[in-house]
Amino acid sequence: MKVIVTGGMGYIGSHTVVELVQAGYEAVIFDDLSNSNAEMIHKISQVANQKVVFEEVDLSNSNACDLVFSNHQDAEAVIHFAAFKSVPESVNKPNEYYRNNIGALLNVTNSMDKYAIPYLVFSSSCTVYGDTKELPVKESTPMLSPNSPYGHTKQLGECILKNLSSLKASKLKSIALRYFNPIGAHPSGIIGELPIGVPGNLMPFITQTAAGVREQLSVYGDDYDTIDGTAVRDYIHVSDLAVAHVKALDYMRSEKSKERFEVFNVGTGNGSSVMEVIQSFERTSGLKLNYKIASRREGDIAAIYANGRHTMEILDWQAKYNLDDMTRSAWEWEKKLRKLN
Ligand code: WQD
Repeated sequence: MKVIVTGGMGYIGSHTVVELVQAGYEAVIFDDLSNSNAEMIHKISQVANQKVVFEEVDLSNSNACDLVFSNHQDAEAVIHFAAFKSVPESVNKPNEYYRNNIGALLNVTNSMDKYAIPYLVFSSSCTVYGDTKELPVKESTPMLSPNSPYGHTKQLGECILKNLSSLKASKLKSIALRYFNPIGAHPSGIIGELPIGVPGNLMPFITQTAAGVREQLSVYGDDYDTIDGTAVRDYIHVSDLAVAHVKALDYMRSEKSKERFEVFNVGTGNGSSVMEVIQSFERTSGLKLNYKIASRREGDIAAIYANGRHTMEILDWQAKYNLDDMTRSAWEWEKKLRKLN
């Protein structure tokens, strides 16, 4: 069965393509290369041990989107990652984020309707919960006002899909996966997280500091009301997250559920502080990390982590990697990338 993976050249998308192929699906990647490079297709095909087709396209352009879909109208599902994803950047460029993230989604659903492609897995985010105090968050936890235009585009995306999927005439069935904090790299070390420019996320900043690419890690605040004062997140291995997409697709195709739109949290259920991530990295790499305590980063929340019971029960999915596996794989990837021994 052919699955179109939009944004499949990116960090989570590339890992998901590998898991799809290994589960027996045929994956086709649509990507505009705004957050990746064309070389990635060779690495993805190498890890997947199968040639994966890549179509370069800006999905926020409706004509371009329809053209690529017309070339792959035999697809039966879409996994939609293609979106701008930086929280701080979205605060500086809100219009670009709304135009690109919502525009691309609407072009994709329009083409899916036109070519009768029934199943959509949507890349959503724990940022839809905003600064909730109800922890661990369940899928039923109310969505507060998001801390950024990025988070708002994920909330809007879910609302659009919920409404489109429930229309009588619609053949669309969709699932929104709310990711927590994906880190780490494929065990092969051939694909991993490679942010363009200075990393905004914690893990790549840690590994680039250890590799000497960055001078020093700044820990954004140690005065939160948490176990050690540093902010707490639910870190999940990117390969575990990738498998959750395959499980979501299998579940929709099984037609076990009559629901047209469902939401699932994809996290481990364990909260780890920034200091705990640093301690894990030092343990697994054997290195001492150069870091300092800095002031809080605007828009950050103190803590968020998932109640993953619903996802475990319904999708029959459970994270299998722990925090040390994540930091170890992130460092293996960085060393391979920088040709360090
Ligand atoms: C994690 C923690 C920082 C960098 C992001 C996305 C969000 C979602 C999950 C996709 C925070 C601290 C970070 C640094 C630090 N992804 N930190 N120094 O902000 O939780 O969420 O991933 O849906 O959309 O924004 O991730 O890795 O930026 O931060 O101390 O140099 O690490 O303050 O507490 P975040 P992050």
